[in-house]
Amino acid sequence: MRKLILLVFVCFLATQVYGEEPDKLLENTCTVCHSLDRIKAKSRSKKEWEETVNRMITYGAGVSGKNKKIIIEYLTITYGLGEENEN
Ligand code: HEC
Repeated sequence: MRKLILLVFVCFLATQVYGEEPDKLLENTCTVCHSLDRIKAKSRSKKEWEETVNRMITYGAGVSGKNKKIIIEYLTITYGLGEENEN
């Protein structure tokens, strides 16, 4: 339930600030070099997703500071490890 509320909140925030939903943001940002399947296959903690996104940025992924936060939150909630997400 908490997870759902968090997800709704992140969606709301992203839509308000960027006029874009986080799933669209992820799709636009992360499918430039590979498909989303690569991401969907993983379950990671927030820290691990953060490291993954940082690595993608070194490859040339165009992720700005604000979008990075949203992408990491969204990944953690959607492709996380469960309770560990709450950090
Ligand atoms: C500039 C190109 C590029 C963009 C944009 C990009 N990636 Fe990647 N990604 C790569 C490359 C190259 C690999 C394979 C090498 C590797 O795994 O480090 C990869 C592999 C991956 C993997 C599988 C390897 C692993 O860590 O398990 C995941 C997950 C991933 N990317 C997530 C993302 C996410 C999330 C985004 C959006 C923030 C993103 N990628 C955007 C280039 C990119």
